[in-house]
Amino acid sequence: MLHEADRGGWAEALERGRIVHFPRCPLALPSPDDQDFLREGLALYLRRKNISYYPDAEKLAGLRAPASVLDRARRILRDHSGRVRDFLQGGMPGFTRGWSPGTSSFRPMEEEGRGLSPHASNELIHVDAGAYGATHGDRILRFFVNLNPWRERVWISKGTFEELFRRHGAEAGLGGGGLQAFPMARVVDTSPYDRRMRRFHNWMKDTAQFQEPPHERFSFAPFSAWMVLTDGVSHACIQGQHALVDTFLIPLANCRLIAPYHLLAGAA
Ligand SMILES: [Fe+2]
Repeated sequence: MLHEADRGGWAEALERGRIVHFPRCPLALPSPDDQDFLREGLALYLRRKNISYYPDAEKLAGLRAPASVLDRARRILRDHSGRVRDFLQGGMPGFTRGWSPGTSSFRPMEEEGRGLSPHASNELIHVDAGAYGATHGDRILRFFVNLNPWRERVWISKGTFEELFRRHGAEAGLGGGGLQAFPMARVVDTSPYDRRMRRFHNWMKDTAQFQEPPHERFSFAPFSAWMVLTDGVSHACIQGQHALVDTFLIPLANCRLIAPYHLLAGAA
């Protein structure tokens, strides 16, 4: 499922449910000092599992810390977020047109054995459902960097949304003739799409049998980067610590191929 980035055609690869992989992160990373600060200087101050910068509001969440620490963390994530945006807009001008940049986050915790509740656990395979509330079918694009100098970040997957929807949609309560009612239901339901995505997400995490192997396994080396439409590719992060994750909402109208929205609406 990996698509080596030097082959080009990123937007199409993403839409086909591939992980676009950069063996070396293709943009400048925070300075070594700033990286040390993220990895080691924040542990005392963590209030959430992620430290997130919101570019629109220029707001930082996830830390309770002295102003100097907050300012430095905010500056590092703001600068990184700007570089990621420039890079993606340059590489995929059509696909990113009219997009909404979301958060730029640092994930400070070891992913293995965090023991979170099932629905919050990143260790269980899922597709992402919702980002900053309802997406109404817009796609969730995430750009990851493994900022750990020594250890790989490890993902497992059970395939694309499309494959899983065809195989398990009915079992998850998403099949049957009710799909035609989808556009009509909009009148009474603000986002039937997001409800169904959430339902599928929860079904995956709640279904022990679904979580069983076989899996595809992906190991991302230190300082490598990768991007993926996380609503279209199932994933779980089972190992790794210290990653940068930037999130964007891509308008559904920019997509040329079948998206989860079309499958759930029965329009496919
Ligand atoms: Fe996810």
